[in-house]
Amino acid sequence: MESDSMKRTDFPANLEYQSGFGNHLSSEAIAGALPQGQNSPLVCPLGLYAEQISGTSFTAPRKLNLRSWLYRIKPSVTHEPFKPRVPSHERLVSEFNQSNSSANPTQLRWKPVEIPESPTDFIDGLHTVCGAGSSYLRHGYAIHMYTANKSMDNCAFCNADGDFLIVPQKGRLWITTECGKLQVCPGEIVVLPQGFRFTVNLPDGPSRGYIAEIFGTHFQLPDLGPIGANGLAAPRDFLVPTAWYEESSCPGYTIVQKYGGELFTAKQDFSPFNVVAWHGNYVPFKYDLSKFCPYNTVLFDHSDPSINTVLTAPTDKLGVALLDFVIFPPRWLVAENTFRPPYYHRNCMSEFMGLIYGGYEAKADGFLPGGASLHSCMTPHGPDTKTYEATIALGNEAGPRRIADTMAFMFESCLIPRVCPWALESPFMDHDYYQCWIGLRSHFIRETTNGQRRDVHKGHNETVTGGHGE
Ligand SMILES: [Fe+2]
Repeated sequence: MESDSMKRTDFPANLEYQSGFGNHLSSEAIAGALPQGQNSPLVCPLGLYAEQISGTSFTAPRKLNLRSWLYRIKPSVTHEPFKPRVPSHERLVSEFNQSNSSANPTQLRWKPVEIPESPTDFIDGLHTVCGAGSSYLRHGYAIHMYTANKSMDNCAFCNADGDFLIVPQKGRLWITTECGKLQVCPGEIVVLPQGFRFTVNLPDGPSRGYIAEIFGTHFQLPDLGPIGANGLAAPRDFLVPTAWYEESSCPGYTIVQKYGGELFTAKQDFSPFNVVAWHGNYVPFKYDLSKFCPYNTVLFDHSDPSINTVLTAPTDKLGVALLDFVIFPPRWLVAENTFRPPYYHRNCMSEFMGLIYGGYEAKADGFLPGGASLHSCMTPHGPDTKTYEATIALGNEAGPRRIADTMAFMFESCLIPRVCPWALESPFMDHDYYQCWIGLRSHFIRETTNGQRRDVHKGHNETVTGGHGE
């Protein structure tokens, strides 16, 4: 017979999910557990407690309002008082200021962070890289990475600060939530909304990934504009768990609450995954990035990366995102007479990039799966020298080409990130990143198509006979 802890780490082989984005869903682990016709009966079916979890203010407009009703064996409140966790976590930030992070306009790049060999679970393996704003003021974001090798044991994590969008790069995640279980593989993403309790098991051992945390808003599907009613990420490809519960006694079970970037713990003697039925639209969900339907140019020029937006977290300003999650998936390149890799640019938005697998079209080398780059507000960036030279050497006869076996992504924000000291001092910081552009040479030829060089200073033309000096 399995022990209680075995049951908690066990994962069904064929998990069932519900489908859709933003839907009002319902799920019962036992038929009849969900109250009918009302949310809070005097006594709920099966003697369960009714508990609402709100993801937006009660009075948020209906189209934005998010909440779910959970019907559970014991309510969440049944625990001892929260205390600061011992040991404290020194590398989490949720309010970015001069005391915990710094301004840095340089192009930054990190090699893949090594996964520790000492036992490290998802919570201890989390560290903030950069971010802006404040979880207290409900406006801002944090970008974290995690490196872990061990499942969480007899504890659940609860993030009171914001929503996590997790991008696993190595190792599957077996995530148990109050709404049920999700298996998330590299190539998939999962969103765990603010306030839900969850635990992360690592069936593959050493694991690594990226996390965008957003404060004060939630992810939406982007508007499609002239693309029409279909394309990019389809609502039906977002998968939500089905109700799953355990009733076992769990002496010393710990809730680890991230609150204002600090960790607090509270003890209880039962599993928080005791929700027998639920309904609502505030739910965890996952998405397989290979289902993304890319749209792009079919004649000339390189489209802006916003064309590949999977999810967007809006601000109050129309079209200005607190955080866009954008991917660079396998696709065909067909543009004629066009520099096909990303153009050189400076952006008022700030761009954090990661690579899940394969290579990235704008960097011939140095940007590795599990690595990251940060190009902040108005910091110039673009293809490295090798990519530029290789692209123009191909000329206009390149023909259609399929970019295959790759999945890069970007977290893009209108808020300018401050960078945490441990990220700047990391042994995985690529101090030679700038070198990838230093070799870009001038291809300038002051020459018209008929072989005449135009000298704008002298105001007359002269025949070119020599090189153009680099
Ligand atoms: Fe960019």
